[in-house]
Amino acid sequence: MDTTRIQNLKNQAIADILEAKTKKELESLRITYLGRKGKITKLIRRLPSLKPEERKEIGALLNDAKRDIERAISSHYSLLTTHYSLENEWLDVTAPGKKPPQGHLHLVTQAIREISSIFEKIGFVRVRYPEIEWDWYAFEGLNMPKDHPARDEWETFFIDTPQHPQLGKMVLTPHTSSGQLREMERTKPPIRMINIAKCYRRQLDISHVPMFHQFEGLVIDKGISIPHLKGTIEYFVKEFFGSQRKIRFRPFHFRFTEPSFEIDIDCDVCQGKGCRFCRQGWVELAGAGMVHPIVLKNGGINPQIYSGFAFGWGVERTYMMKEGLKIDDIRLLYSNDLKFLTQF
Ligand code: PHE
Repeated sequence: MDTTRIQNLKNQAIADILEAKTKKELESLRITYLGRKGKITKLIRRLPSLKPEERKEIGALLNDAKRDIERAISSHYSLLTTHYSLENEWLDVTAPGKKPPQGHLHLVTQAIREISSIFEKIGFVRVRYPEIEWDWYAFEGLNMPKDHPARDEWETFFIDTPQHPQLGKMVLTPHTSSGQLREMERTKPPIRMINIAKCYRRQLDISHVPMFHQFEGLVIDKGISIPHLKGTIEYFVKEFFGSQRKIRFRPFHFRFTEPSFEIDIDCDVCQGKGCRFCRQGWVELAGAGMVHPIVLKNGGINPQIYSGFAFGWGVERTYMMKEGLKIDDIRLLYSNDLKFLTQF
């Protein structure tokens, strides 16, 4: 058997394999060379009839040829597979890329922005004051002496730090009313403040979360009276909820305003019929009243010359009462559930 013939056969096989364009062609080349009646197979079958000296050399040569052809087939096969899949996949290189999912501002942030802009239109200045605050600003300066039972309503978180000799303990602000005294210290009348900040109370149920937001309005000037308070609140309600919504003022008692009110809105979840969120058809949104003379004095303002009104609203509840939202559990706002949040 001729060694050059075997060499040539092998070279021919490899050249054919490299030329193959499809897997099918490659398959038939395997049969041609290595199949049962293939060209290499036939030569291997003839080995036993060779003379022993020749058999060894030719046998090694044929085995090498067989191995090299097999390798060529398998490496060309993987080349064809990648090439093949690219050829069959349609790729438009001019198509725009896929956009990453885009979030949006949290509902509470959206509400805060809307509330701010409504009040800015009538000349209120947006401020923020510390959310870790001294007792004086949160209670005592607001006419709530130490150990006064009125403080109970504010379910306060106290901070475990040394007391200030004049200002008392440190608390997490249970309401934004602490900003009233801060604002009176910062500036002199006329004051038109809107203070929007986080508040903390030890409460958690369908209509309370331990961290929530309030917006606090404070107006101080000469000759300010209840009609100014009512007018301002009615303006806000009309802007935020539309002119169809009903609100009511209920007489109430706060230590830092006199007289005082609470403000309710007809519940949008049940259209005022009464539901698990509001119970009686009305949702309490705010406290308000005429700033108490003692508070003005504590803020360094002469109550003989100036008077003022203040109101404090829950941001979350206010947002929930927007027409058509039908959010009947305040905890949903902080549940981090994208299925809920992405609807807004
Ligand atoms: N701070 C009161 C509360 O959290 C609300 C309030 C603010 C009442 C301003 C009167 C005046 O309930």
